[in-house]
Amino acid sequence: MIIAPSVLSLDYSDTKKQLDELNASGAEWMHYDVMDGNFVPNLSFGPDILKAFCKASPLYKDVHLMIKDPMYYADVFMDAGADLVTFHYEAVEEKDIKVLADKIHARNKKAGISIKPDTPVEVLRPYIADFDLVLIMSVEPGFGGQKFRENAPEKIRETKALIEEMHSHALVEVDGGINDVTGKLCKEAGVDVLVAGSYVFKNDIKKAVQSLCE
Ligand code: DX5
Ligand code: ZN
Repeated sequence: MIIAPSVLSLDYSDTKKQLDELNASGAEWMHYDVMDGNFVPNLSFGPDILKAFCKASPLYKDVHLMIKDPMYYADVFMDAGADLVTFHYEAVEEKDIKVLADKIHARNKKAGISIKPDTPVEVLRPYIADFDLVLIMSVEPGFGGQKFRENAPEKIRETKALIEEMHSHALVEVDGGINDVTGKLCKEAGVDVLVAGSYVFKNDIKKAVQSLCE
């Protein structure tokens, strides 16, 4: 299983030390949350911080766009160093979903699609074969430190079944309220990538990452 610590919860008064610890923690991915104060009621980072993180960390850059206009900003974040760009099903018109996946793939990057806790997995049926990753939100997007939504493991199981049925190769990622206990529930449900923000950065980073791998 891949662990993707979310740098939304990184202690920015001590950035260099936290990034060094993250690089040595055993985590393979860095989860980078982009918020526009519009799709979600919060603001986070733009592309320049991602560029800086690319210099400071070799981890795979997993960029989660919680923004209204991913069609424009996907390129901006790919230019800044994103390896994988995930956008929200709820943010785009149906006609644009495959167009955006194709646009990301044309630049040899991976494409992900995310659904909020109340969006059913079934909406992804027509698109799932076009994506490399499905991100199941286990909290309402916008803030770190929220409580895990209990319906997430069932949605992970449904997504795995749909991936198999539609012959997709997509990985399944879960994001929100992940700790050692909720992480296990998702692992049992078959998740491939665990995102964890506050659990990793409010504890000893390496120990927290290792506990998620167990
Ligand atoms: C929430 C973000 C998450 C957030 C998770 O909108 O997408 O990636 O950082 O934080 P925790 O793990 O604290 O719930
Ligand atoms: Zn996220």
